[in-house]
Amino acid sequence: MRKPLIAGNWKLNNNIAESVGLATAILDNLGCKNDVDIVIAPVFTAISAVAKVCTGSNIKIAGQNCHCIDAGAFTGEVSAPMLADAGCNYVILGHSERRQLFGETDCFINAKCYSALQAGLIPILCVGETEDERDKGEVFDVITRQITLALNEISQQQVEQMVIAYEPIWAIGTGKTATSNEAAEVHSFIRGVLSGLYSEQTANSIRIVYGGSVKPNNIAELMVEDDIDGALVGGASLKAADFSAIVNFPKSLKVAPR
Ligand code: 13P
Repeated sequence: MRKPLIAGNWKLNNNIAESVGLATAILDNLGCKNDVDIVIAPVFTAISAVAKVCTGSNIKIAGQNCHCIDAGAFTGEVSAPMLADAGCNYVILGHSERRQLFGETDCFINAKCYSALQAGLIPILCVGETEDERDKGEVFDVITRQITLALNEISQQQVEQMVIAYEPIWAIGTGKTATSNEAAEVHSFIRGVLSGLYSEQTANSIRIVYGGSVKPNNIAELMVEDDIDGALVGGASLKAADFSAIVNFPKSLKVAPR
């Protein structure tokens, strides 16, 4: 059984004081929760302060991106070892906003995954299709390409550390969630791709979370699906009450020590 994981991607929101305030409120609500892995991803500048607040707790910190080289002449970048040094355990990689707005390629994302793993960070690798690709029936081709290229040269032991996030781009920030059937179909397909690349046992050990307009009122129906192991939450993670309600999805649906 895979332990559920709920991650809040704060994107480009909240200064240091606001981030610490939000993290403190989440800690107050969820500090005792241990049947779900909880992750929050503040902006780079707030990571240290938020990590300090969450030290020793069950709330873990993620970077929203990192560079693939540890140090050097790469103005404006932050590396995986630097995120680990600042208090991160996770890093979100290949988010569709990085791919679409900042031109990140599958090959670049692969290098970032490798670098993150070397630094002891758990990559949350995001994949997902555009609305146009879905309309054209290309979902499985797009997902196969994104997963296969991002995991190039990543070993079985390494991939077993990773989390995959299926985030259909048409569902991000639109209020248009994929139905639980639509999401479950792609999650099961991703598990099949992982099984083909590694083994069924490895595929079954990797958590695949869903992202795209996850809210307190739709988390339960998503989590009931066998292959949906949690969520990557954007907008709703910016309110402590909503994020906490998502993390507290009806417990009877899935209880699993990892
Ligand atoms: P929303 O939950 O706002 O749709 O964002 C999803 C997302 O992009 C998380 O990474």
